[in-house]
Amino acid sequence: MKLWQGRFATPIAADADAFNESLSFDKKLYKADITASLAHSEMLARCNVISNEDKTAIHQGLKEILAEIESGKLIIQGQEDIHSFVENELVSRIGEAGKRLHTARSRNDQVATDFRLYVRESAKEIVNLLKNLIATLVDIAQKHVNNVMPGYTHLRKAQPINCAQYFNAYSEMFLRDAQRFLDALKRIDVMPLGSGALAGTSYPIDREITRELLNFKAVSQNSLDAVSDRDFVAEYLFACSLVVAHLSRLCEDTILYTSTEFGFWEMPDAYSTGSSIMPQKKNPDISELVRGKTGRVYGHLMAILTTIKGVPLAYNKDFQEDKEGLFDAEKTVKDCIAIYTSMLQQITLNVKRMEKAAAEDFTCATDVADYLAKHGVPFRTAHGVVGKIVRYCLNENKTLESMTLEEYREHSEVFQADVLTVVKAKNSANARESVGGSSRQSAKAGIKSIKARLKKLTY
Ligand code: ARG
Repeated sequence: MKLWQGRFATPIAADADAFNESLSFDKKLYKADITASLAHSEMLARCNVISNEDKTAIHQGLKEILAEIESGKLIIQGQEDIHSFVENELVSRIGEAGKRLHTARSRNDQVATDFRLYVRESAKEIVNLLKNLIATLVDIAQKHVNNVMPGYTHLRKAQPINCAQYFNAYSEMFLRDAQRFLDALKRIDVMPLGSGALAGTSYPIDREITRELLNFKAVSQNSLDAVSDRDFVAEYLFACSLVVAHLSRLCEDTILYTSTEFGFWEMPDAYSTGSSIMPQKKNPDISELVRGKTGRVYGHLMAILTTIKGVPLAYNKDFQEDKEGLFDAEKTVKDCIAIYTSMLQQITLNVKRMEKAAAEDFTCATDVADYLAKHGVPFRTAHGVVGKIVRYCLNENKTLESMTLEEYREHSEVFQADVLTVVKAKNSANARESVGGSSRQSAKAGIKSIKARLKKLTY
């Protein structure tokens, strides 16, 4: 039976019922729903809105239902939504007392509360997954703090960089992501319960009691807003979107760097796939899939933003559309972070190849220009001189390292013997000692700072 059947002469049509239902997906909220009902009934009893006997019966019934759902004995089915399911089940078990549970409450404040409880836990879980991912990146960085690799702009070799600095860059992104979830939690962690359908309630309730029982940071301050606020869903999905954005960049690097053309990293066999026709293939399917899943997470963000738009105050059934996208984004993001963490733990770096690549293709040209500038030549002039040196090398089939001092001096009298140390990839990287730069010292400081911030990621 519907919770609201009284007013109607006929039952709802089967197709309307099927279209209207949310139980098939909001059953995920069973624990949050029961937790919130336990707190609500406790508060009602403390405020003398229901008797202690009724509360005790309600608590026993709800705990029994929870235990049976978790053991698999009770199957969640046959009702419009999880709230109807739990309430109907309770009434069928304890009778009259169960019918008092919904006093001073509406499904509108109930669903908003349940969903916030769920999203709060989920955000914390994602932060923990991100912490593991960052710890893995830090491990790799620590192992390679003495190595250099080519740094790219426009996917063309730019300057030699410290290997650790490269991995630190992704740690920075995922640290921001974790911080973004923690920041969103401040607004997720607000309790709508006690807002009723839209206008609050005339019962002498004490919202502070439920807030404390449910461990919310604050109670909502406007009942109309509280039942119809889904900003927290949009914020959660935006935070998810940036996580997959960052992961997809790492995927792209992985796909490139593990190719034979680059040969910088070796993908673990256990995280690679083959081809049904080409026996030699070792494909980066995991990276491609994670990159590909970015689209659906962005899609869920667009969907909720569009659903929220133009909905008149206060609750409207449109908001039932807030759940499926979030559940899918949640699973997608958690799976992607977890699989990438596992894969990275087994990835190996081909240090020789990376260091050789770091030294080739005039990656130290800027250092030569800087050498001149540091000896008094205006930088723009120095840039022009080195441009000509590069052209000379290309014509003569030389490198900046194989050029003799005489050849350097033909281009500028300023050059001395020490220019030949400047054009070594490691020296080039290590010279960039500015904060956050690619020297070994800066990369080590980066690791230290990342570790310190990692420790502070708690809610
Ligand atoms: N299944 C509904 C939802 O997810 C619960 C709230 C229903 N409230 C109502 N007034 N119909 O939003």
